[in-house]
Amino acid sequence: MRTSQMLLALCTVTLLHQVRSDDPVEFKALTPEVFALLNEAVWVNCSTPDPKTYFETRLFKKDNANGTNWVATEVVVDDWEISTMYCYLSPDQDDKKSPITVTAYALPSKVTIDIQPLLEEEKESTINCTVHDVAPQELLTINITRGGDVIDSKSYGGPHVLDKRTVSHVYTFTASRGDNDMNFSCEAILQLGREQKRTKSPEITVQTYALPKPVLDVPKWIELNTQFNAECTVANGFPPENINIKMVVEDTPYDVESLAKDGAIKATTQLWANYSDPGLKSIRCEAQLFNFYNENEAEVNVYELPIINFALSSNVVDRWENVTASCYVTNGNPEAYNVTIAVYGDDEKSLEKSASTHTFTACRGTPRLPVTCTAYIIGNTDLFSEITRTLEVY
Ligand SMILES: *[C@@H]1O[C@H](CO)[C@@H](O)[C@H](O)[C@H]1NC(C)=O
Ligand SMILES: *[C@@H]1O[C@H](CO)[C@@H](O)[C@H](O)[C@H]1NC(C)=O
Ligand SMILES: *[C@@H]1O[C@H](CO)[C@@H](O)[C@H](O)[C@H]1NC(C)=O
Ligand SMILES: *[C@@H]1O[C@H](CO)[C@@H](O)[C@H](O)[C@H]1NC(C)=O
Ligand SMILES: *[C@@H]1O[C@H](CO)[C@@H](O)[C@H](O)[C@H]1NC(C)=O
Ligand SMILES: *[C@@H]1O[C@H](CO)[C@@H](O)[C@H](O)[C@H]1NC(C)=O
Ligand SMILES: *[C@@H]1O[C@H](CO)[C@@H](O)[C@H](O)[C@H]1NC(C)=O
Ligand SMILES: *[C@@H]1O[C@H](CO)[C@@H](O)[C@H](O)[C@H]1NC(C)=O
Repeated sequence: MRTSQMLLALCTVTLLHQVRSDDPVEFKALTPEVFALLNEAVWVNCSTPDPKTYFETRLFKKDNANGTNWVATEVVVDDWEISTMYCYLSPDQDDKKSPITVTAYALPSKVTIDIQPLLEEEKESTINCTVHDVAPQELLTINITRGGDVIDSKSYGGPHVLDKRTVSHVYTFTASRGDNDMNFSCEAILQLGREQKRTKSPEITVQTYALPKPVLDVPKWIELNTQFNAECTVANGFPPENINIKMVVEDTPYDVESLAKDGAIKATTQLWANYSDPGLKSIRCEAQLFNFYNENEAEVNVYELPIINFALSSNVVDRWENVTASCYVTNGNPEAYNVTIAVYGDDEKSLEKSASTHTFTACRGTPRLPVTCTAYIIGNTDLFSEITRTLEVY
C-alpha cells in the first residue's frame, strides 16, 4: 500500500515537473535540416520566447513571418552547396544561436530497371537500377523489389556530392524457379530529414526457364532388322509445356510426341534397325525450349548374329590320326566377329579373326569326340553362335 502510494506521488511530481519545464518557450530551430527543390523557396522556422529573434543566412530571403513564440523566414536555394544558417535569439544575445542546414535536392527525372525478362534457372542474372539526375547522392537509397519484397538495398551515404547525378546499382543473383512470373522493380528513396521521397521504376515481369541435358535411354545392342525403343527424358525442365523433343537417328530426324509426366518431359519412339550395314549407329535427342537447345547422343550397336560354316577334314578317324577343323563366319562384315575352336578336353584354339583352322590329333574321347566352333560378336560375350560336330574315333 505504502509503496504504491509513494510511486503515485513520485509520478505526479515527475509529470508536473515535465509540464512545467515545457512551459517556457524553448529557443530552437523547429527543423534543423531543411530541404528544398533547387530555386524554390522554403520556410525556416524557430520557436522562441523573444519576438526579436532573427535569421542570418547567405541565402536570399524572400519573406518573413512571425507569430506567438515563433519566427520564420522563407529562403530560396539556388545552388547545390549545403547552407548552414542560424536563428539568433536576439541582437542583444548573439551568442544564443541555433543552426539550420538548408540543402537543395532534385527528384530523379526517371528510375530505370534493366533485367532480362527471360532468366535461366541456377544461372547468374543481373539487375541494373539507374536513378537519373538525382541530388544529393549521399541521401539516396536504391531498393530492388521482387514481388513487392525488398531483395537488395544500396544506400550511398558519404560526403556531400554537388549537383545532380545519375547513379547505377547492379545486383547479381542466381535465378530460381521462384522468380518465375515475379515482378521486379527499382525504387529510389531520398531521405530528406524525416521525410522520404520515393520514385519507382516500371515493373518488369520475369519468366524463368530450365533446359537440362536430356537423358537418352536406348539398348546398347540391337539385332539388325528388329525394332527397339528409344526414350528421351528431360527431367525438371521448365516450363514443361514449351519443351519439344526431337530424335535424330544417323542424321535423319524423327518426329516424336513429347509427354509431360511428373515434372519430366518424355518422348518415346519405336525404331527399326533397318540398315544395309550393321555397326555403330548414332541416336541424338534434341530438346528445344524457346530459342535454346540441349542435346545428348548415344550409340547403338546394330548386330547380325554370326552364321557359321564349320567342317572337319573327316568325321571318322583312327586314334592318333590328325584332323583339321575349319570354321568361318559367312556374314558380310567378318571383322565384327572372332572364332574359337574347342576340342573336348583341350584348350580352346581361338583367334581374333572370323576364320580359324585347327589341326589336332585324335587321341581321346573314344569313340566320340565333340569339337565346337563358337563365333562371338567382338565386344559382347553374350552374343554368339555355336556349332558342335562329333568326331568318331576308333
Ligand atoms: C512555425 O512554427 C509554428 C509552431 O510550430 C507554427 O505554428 C507556424 O505555422 C510555423 N510557421 C511557418 C511559416 O511555417
Ligand atoms: C512580426 O510580423 C509583423 C507583421 O508581419 C511585423 O510588423 C513585425 O515587424 C514582425 N516582427 C518581427 C520581430 O519580425
Ligand atoms: C546500367 O545501366 C546504365 C543506364 O542504362 C548504364 O549506363 C550502365 O552502364 C549499366 N551498368 C551495367 C553494369 O550494365
Ligand atoms: C529499403 O530497403 C531497406 C533494407 O531492406 C529497408 O529497411 C527500407 O525500409 C526499404 N525502404 C523502402 C521505402 O521500402
Ligand atoms: C506485375 O506487373 C504487371 C504489369 O505491371 C501487372 O499487370 C501484374 O498484376 C503484376 N503482378 C503482380 C503479381 O503484382
Ligand atoms: C524394316 O524391316 C522390317 C523387317 O524386315 C520391315 O517389316 C519394316 O517394314 C522395315 N521398316 C522400314 C522403315 O524400312
Ligand atoms: C600330326 O600332326 C603332328 C603335328 O602337326 C605331326 O607331328 C604328325 O606327324 C602328324 N601325324 C600324322 C600321322 O600325319
Ligand atoms: C572374341 O570375342 C569375345 C567377345 O567379345 C571375347 O570375349 C574374346 O576374348 C574374343 N577372343 C579373342 C581371341 O579375342
